[in-house]
Amino acid sequence: MSEVHQVADRADPGRPAPARIYDYLLSGTNNFQADRDAAERITALVPELRDCAWANRGFHQRAAKWIAQRGIRQFIDIGSGLPTVGNTHDVVHQVDPGCRVVYADNDPMVREHATAILDDDERVRVIQGDLRDPGSVLAHPDLRALIDFSQPTGLLMTAVVHFVADESDPWRLLARYTGALAPGSYLALSHLTDDHKPPRAVAEFLRVFDHATEQMHFRSRPDVERLLTGLDLVSPRHPDGGGQLDYAGDWGAEDLGLSDSDGSRWLYCAVARRH
Ligand SMILES: C[S@@+](CC[C@H](N)C(=O)[O-])C[C@H]1O[C@@H](n2cnc3c(N)ncnc32)[C@H](O)[C@@H]1O
Repeated sequence: MSEVHQVADRADPGRPAPARIYDYLLSGTNNFQADRDAAERITALVPELRDCAWANRGFHQRAAKWIAQRGIRQFIDIGSGLPTVGNTHDVVHQVDPGCRVVYADNDPMVREHATAILDDDERVRVIQGDLRDPGSVLAHPDLRALIDFSQPTGLLMTAVVHFVADESDPWRLLARYTGALAPGSYLALSHLTDDHKPPRAVAEFLRVFDHATEQMHFRSRPDVERLLTGLDLVSPRHPDGGGQLDYAGDWGAEDLGLSDSDGSRWLYCAVARRH
């Protein structure tokens, strides 16, 4: 696999980074040896890690498409990751080419790579922003150029909130973001869990991320549910509310028998609507 040639300011090739580990698990090429080594160390104890990444990506795409099909025409994708197959704008543009998408990620390499691909597209913006700093993200001029906060928005936060420590109060942060959105907006959330997982696998997962640019914070079902306080959980089966947390593969799956997998069960997910 070739090394990445264009390195953004402050990208440290010697330290594994979540965006690049995930890119490697999704068979991308924007990753370094340190990222591949980190992924392989976890895979030694969690052989379903690649499946977990694909289950998450599948949820992200199904959720974005479903939200667009509900009539939402503007999206904010926080912790968007490196450009990959089936990016958010690709998915929602299949529903309506007029959809507007703002990507935000705190990894400088994400902005560099995404900007290189998307610079000419007026419907898409990429900002470098940290989920833990909602004031800066929500006020960013490039975000404001595309997002009209008087209209419903699709907010995507998939596989990112587990990089926020309890001390940063992710529950307050989620309330701040969803509180900024118009009624009728949607949030798509997925979050890694250590519920029912082998302790040695969990310990190795945490150890690997101790040396990464962001640390891992698994959460239990009640703690993930609490991130959705005040919102109605929805899905294709429960479009008007009354849904529940699913495993990543199950949300919006056509066949629940086929969607269940060990990898999927590392991630709780939900789509929730603001009333
Ligand atoms: C596992 S990837 C998920 C990518 C995409 N959301 C998906 O689900 O397919 C996690 C992404 O979150 C980003 N990230 C981690 N902590 C963040 C933070 N505090 N603010 C913004 N982005 C963050 C990482 O750089 C990485 O790109």
